[in-house]
Amino acid sequence: MPFKVLCNNLSDTEKLAEKFADIIKDKGAFICLYGCVGAGKTAFSKFICKYLDVKEKVTSPSFVILNEYKSGIIPVYHFDLYRLENEGISTITSELEEYSEGKMLTLVEWAEFSQNSLPFDRIELTINYIDETKREFEFSAFGNKSNSIIRELDNVNIST
Ligand SMILES: Nc1ncnc2c1ncn2[C@@H]1O[C@H](COP(=O)(O)OP(=O)(O)OP(=O)(O)O)[C@@H](O)[C@H]1O
Ligand SMILES: [Mg+2]
Repeated sequence: MPFKVLCNNLSDTEKLAEKFADIIKDKGAFICLYGCVGAGKTAFSKFICKYLDVKEKVTSPSFVILNEYKSGIIPVYHFDLYRLENEGISTITSELEEYSEGKMLTLVEWAEFSQNSLPFDRIELTINYIDETKREFEFSAFGNKSNSIIRELDNVNIST
C-alpha cells in the first residue's frame, strides 16, 4: 500500500525528513526519488542528511552522479542518474545493488534513468509538485525492510 503525506511548505518537508532519518538511522535504507525538476528530491535528501548529522555541505550530485558523505550516523550515498551516459546505464543496476546491502542510506534521484526497475529491497518515493510550496510525498515499499520503514512512517504526524 502506498503511503501519502502532504507537505504544505518546506518546513513540513523538513519534519518528514527528520522522522524518516530517525527511523532509518539504525538500519539504513535504499530510496529512489521520482518527481519533476524542482519537485524537491534534493531538498528532501539534504534534510535527511542534516538529521543524520552529516557535517559536510550536501550538494546536488547532478553533475558528478554520486556524492558520498561519511561524517554522519551512517554513510550516505547520494546519486543523481540524470546525466548518466550509455556505458554507465548498462552497469548501474548491479552497482546500485551493492549500495542496497548494509547499514547505509542510499538516495537515488532520477532512478528511471537506470532503465530497468531495480530488483532489490527499496523504497520508491514520488514527490508531486502541487504549487510553489506544496508537495505530495508518495512512498511505496518493495521488500520486507522497506515495508517496515514505511509502516513506521505511517504513524507520523507532520501537519502544521
Ligand atoms: N514543501 C517543499 N518541499 C520541498 N521543496 C520545496 C518545498 N517548497 C518549496 N521547495 C523548493 O523547491 C525546490 C526544490 O528543488 P530541488 O533541487 O530539491 O528539486 P529536485 O527535485 O532535486 O530537482 P532536480 O530534478 O533538478 O534534481 C527548492 O528550491 C525548495 O526550496
Ligand atoms: Mg535534485
